[in-house]
Amino acid sequence: MHLPDLNIAKDRSSKNNIYIDLKEDYKKAFFGKKYFLRTYGCQMNVHDSEAIRAYLEALGFISTSNIEEANVVVLNTCAIRENARDKVIGFLGKCKYLKKNHDDFKIVLAGCMTEQPDFVDIIMKKHKYVDILIGTHNIQDLPKLLLESFNKQVVEVYSNSDEIIEGMNYERDSKVTAWVNIMYGCDKFCTYCIVPYTRGRERSRKLDSIVSEVKHLKDNGYKEVTLLGQNVNAYGHDIGETFSNLLECVAKTGIERIRFVTSHPWNFTDEMINIIAKYDNIMPYIHLPIQSGSNRILKKMNRRYTKEEYLELFNKMKKTIPNVAITTDIIVGFPGETESDFEETLDIVKKCEYDGAYTFIFSPREGTPAAKMVDNTSLEEKESRLQRLNEVVNYYSNKNNQKLLNKVVPVLVLGESEKDKNKVYGYTDTMKLVNINGGKELIGKIVSVKITDAKSFSLDGDYIKEA
Ligand code: 5AD
Ligand code: SF4
Repeated sequence: MHLPDLNIAKDRSSKNNIYIDLKEDYKKAFFGKKYFLRTYGCQMNVHDSEAIRAYLEALGFISTSNIEEANVVVLNTCAIRENARDKVIGFLGKCKYLKKNHDDFKIVLAGCMTEQPDFVDIIMKKHKYVDILIGTHNIQDLPKLLLESFNKQVVEVYSNSDEIIEGMNYERDSKVTAWVNIMYGCDKFCTYCIVPYTRGRERSRKLDSIVSEVKHLKDNGYKEVTLLGQNVNAYGHDIGETFSNLLECVAKTGIERIRFVTSHPWNFTDEMINIIAKYDNIMPYIHLPIQSGSNRILKKMNRRYTKEEYLELFNKMKKTIPNVAITTDIIVGFPGETESDFEETLDIVKKCEYDGAYTFIFSPREGTPAAKMVDNTSLEEKESRLQRLNEVVNYYSNKNNQKLLNKVVPVLVLGESEKDKNKVYGYTDTMKLVNINGGKELIGKIVSVKITDAKSFSLDGDYIKEA
């Protein structure tokens, strides 16, 4: 048994590249059995779930969306805010009930929540029916844990890792767009954030391996890659590389669309901006979390920039990258945030006129510095600030979308619209969702679409021609 420990999670010392492959002896040990996989949280978790799928399918499991017929249920969890935890605990109740009436049913908890000692403690004490708890650093141990049969709960969670995994197998959800992990972990330690503890130290993958992965995806018909990292533009500082060089090498593979998330303003260099502007296949879209518009709060958050520095960077991006769309993340109700701090946040949203923003109420995470800070603002007040903020954010999303009315834009078509079978959906180069009058044959293609209607969260359009 291995239990999580936040002190080990804080350590930032060694690194080691390891190469992974699916082992022959996993093959089909569970032939004909079914798995149900549910993913919570960010793109990193979505991508990790693609690795979990690859392992389960190598073991012979087939996917089911009906939990009642599953033999293994895997919940890939998120720890970023408290409500993510509530959702998982709620869902476990259903799993417990199903397990009672099923003699071949295992429950696996994976992902960021298993890296939190207080959560693991609750599962060990109150949810003994959960079979396996596995952490973010050792997904590759899942087959071994499933193959060995235990009569009691197994906890195999490591709190940090010096391993940089290359050659991981993925069962990708899409045949058109792919996530490509370029680095693991985060060393920023923003005071509110649990990620540096759940994902461990920053470790960059080798540039050559990343470029080979992108080439392989392109050769297999993928049109778009999204380079993934908690702090994607910090890539390379631990291995003598730079994110701008990586971007340029990936652009030169000729893959049609390149995206990247999430960028930290502190690590954004002029060189990166110039490379994004230079290559047509690097999409003009940047997610640039600001978190707060008050310098006092940014300091308490340990964000490493002032609002003036952020604005300077933002304006440089707008000036240098033609037609760039910028979105952001904002937290309201951080401990000690006053009405005037909050108004500074509203003010910066008005100055930046963001294309979109993900907005959150601060959620204290045990083990982080902000969880210990004095917080006198009522939940009611925080909810009211969130609502006021969302009104401003939505106004500007809508305003930016209106600018596209009657314009013809390039859209990568990803799939059939769920609401209307005569429509398909896709994303513009600037990452705006478009519902298109058009048939299934457009899926996987980049097409020209004339925008006919614009709302805050999506656009409608007519197919014109292949781009
Ligand atoms: N409370 C609220 N929001 C948070 N985020 C990260 N940690 C917390 C927290 N403790 C938000 C930040 C981050 C996004 C992924 O989630 O805005 O950019
Ligand atoms: Fe969390 Fe800050 Fe790292 Fe982003 S940069 S993952 S907010 S600690």
